[in-house]
Amino acid sequence: MSVNLNTIKQRYGIIGFDPALDRAIDIAVQVARTDLSVLVTGESGVGKENFPRIIHDNSSRKNGNYIAVNCGAIPEGTIDSELFGHEKGAFTGAVDTRKGYFEAADGGTIFLDEVADLPLNTQIRLLRVLETGEFIRVGSSKVLKTDVRVVAATNVDIADRISKGKFREDLYYRLNSVPIHVPALRERKGDIYPLFIKFTSDFSGKYHMPPVQLDESARQRLIEYRWPGNVRQLKHVAEQISLLEENRTLTAERLAPYLTSPGDSNLPVPVRGDNESSDQFHKEIIFKFIAELQREISELKNTVNQLATDGQMVSPSNKSLKEYPLRDNDLDIEITRSATGRSPKDEHFDDVVIEEDDLTMDKVEKSAIAKALERNHNNRKMAAKELHISERTLYRKIKEYGL
Ligand SMILES: Nc1ncnc2c1ncn2[C@@H]1O[C@H](COP(=O)(O)OP(=O)(O)O)[C@@H](O)[C@H]1O
Ligand SMILES: [Mg+2]
Repeated sequence: MSVNLNTIKQRYGIIGFDPALDRAIDIAVQVARTDLSVLVTGESGVGKENFPRIIHDNSSRKNGNYIAVNCGAIPEGTIDSELFGHEKGAFTGAVDTRKGYFEAADGGTIFLDEVADLPLNTQIRLLRVLETGEFIRVGSSKVLKTDVRVVAATNVDIADRISKGKFREDLYYRLNSVPIHVPALRERKGDIYPLFIKFTSDFSGKYHMPPVQLDESARQRLIEYRWPGNVRQLKHVAEQISLLEENRTLTAERLAPYLTSPGDSNLPVPVRGDNESSDQFHKEIIFKFIAELQREISELKNTVNQLATDGQMVSPSNKSLKEYPLRDNDLDIEITRSATGRSPKDEHFDDVVIEEDDLTMDKVEKSAIAKALERNHNNRKMAAKELHISERTLYRKIKEYGL
């Protein structure tokens, strides 16, 4: 069976023409029909998650289960039980016998994302199941068998983990039967602009706005940028621009603020959290906030339309509101909302009003901060918590805006 690269790209929505990326996809397709373990490496955001799917879907296991596990997200105390199951009474809270992923994926494929984060004792269990297909549920002594194909991924340097004694060398070789390396975006500059076009056109559809365009200077800037967060970051930037820029053709100067990242050197993407220097982080808060409003408007619109078609509410000329669409294609909206029937986490979107030329980041941010302070009776700690920023950042912002 020969699978065409373009067919694969289309099926998984993969944009790119870079030979190194093609090579990676090609290896995935070739190796799919074997049972070899595959280790996918590459920086965060390069698109590693497509590969285990390609491998599974093109293998003889495609009708079996595909289970993706983020090893970095499962607490150390429960990971063995998640992966290999446990017997009733194995530990406090183990009220029932439970199958683990390796048992559930019998005949299928397991994707172990962020595999370098596995604790050492789990690594031993994993090595055993890879070598013999045998495993033992936590709290049991009975050896069970499973037939699972493993694809793992990592964005850290495993050799470094091995030298520090944090990763077993034998496991590394066992996982790495076939390596697939996904190149960083800066190493495939030719793909940057096509990806940008794809994302901005997707988002213009989503937000009902004309797609943003870049002038020549901006395009150069986009391509020369280092993209520490790779395709994920590019997608994010495309969405932010699509949503926030009124002038739909960007110059390099207009684009620049979206491309800052702390230090912008060899650093990886900043970790979300108390990163004081990251303007990007603040932009993201606002961006999420606006995206949330957009979503709610379109939900509201649907509800209104629904009510109109159900005849519960009739617009003045008896026509459905579909014929008088709300202007949700731009952000000059005024929203007032009742406080009923909403979850507490929505609270900080209360009584926020966005008006036409009010939509600069600063103004939205200032207003959001003022509201948060008001709601928390000027308790900065609480307000900061609500805004998901640190107290120090909040303090700085209060001074900056003279609040
Ligand atoms: N070549 C590509 N074409 C289109 N979208 C991509 C491409 N590579 C990555 N993406 C998108 O970028 C985001 C990050 O990809 P992901 O596989 O989660 O990265 P990783 O696992 O390497 O951190 C996802 O939304 C993914 O769909
Ligand atoms: Mg990932």
